[in-house]
Amino acid sequence: MSKLLYIQSSPRGGRSKSISVADVFVEEYRRLRPSDSIDTLNVFTADLPAFDGPAVQAKYNILHGRPQGPDDLRAWKAVEAVIERFKAADRYLLAVPMWNFGIPYRLKHYLDLLIQPGYTFGVSPEKGYFGMVTGKPLVVVYARGGEYPAGSPSAAYDMQKPYVELAFHFMGFTDIRSIVFEATLQGSPKEIEARKKTLMQEARHLAAAISV
Ligand SMILES: Cc1cc2nc3c(=O)[nH]c(=O)nc-3n(C[C@H](O)[C@H](O)[C@H](O)COP(=O)(O)O)c2cc1C
Repeated sequence: MSKLLYIQSSPRGGRSKSISVADVFVEEYRRLRPSDSIDTLNVFTADLPAFDGPAVQAKYNILHGRPQGPDDLRAWKAVEAVIERFKAADRYLLAVPMWNFGIPYRLKHYLDLLIQPGYTFGVSPEKGYFGMVTGKPLVVVYARGGEYPAGSPSAAYDMQKPYVELAFHFMGFTDIRSIVFEATLQGSPKEIEARKKTLMQEARHLAAAISV
């Protein structure tokens, strides 16, 4: 039995385009792997600990090999719990909207908690930086109101997909598959619905591909 961690990063619940496509992935995944467990985490409703002074101090203490003070240690325990839940999964699904060309601030907060030395990445004189979350596939469903096709001038504005890929790659992910729902704010509702249906089919195929 393995575990799928389903990370939602839209606050729009049933109205979210990224979540509605990712939900189809989950539906198919459940059908194909009924004994797997699915842990759903929405970064807008999850109680994410602050990543402020004591937590940053704790991170620097680790980087510089210094002992943790009591406040730093308390803050760090909460960060560790978030990382532990993340690393407990075998497969990952992320639903992410584009916000101001990047990612929603709560997803950035979550990533700031996850990306920690000695937990999700390491550094050594021989290897430089290396990811520590390896051998686990990730499927990402991106939603964005506009269009950012590769090779077009607007592609340079896309800080969503490249950033997500960089952050997860830094943590060790190499098998990253994506579904891109573009122009969610353009065209008639009928056109948007038709595009959504096609992407839902893609989500079903990816669920099957990742279930082997
Ligand atoms: C705060 C905010 C900022 C947004 N910024 C962008 C943007 O920079 N580019 C874009 O194409 N769409 C932008 N959008 C539109 C969303 O990307 C689009 O509605 C998408 O479908 C949202 O995903 P969701 O439906 O899963 O919540 C923005 C929406 C919000 C709420």
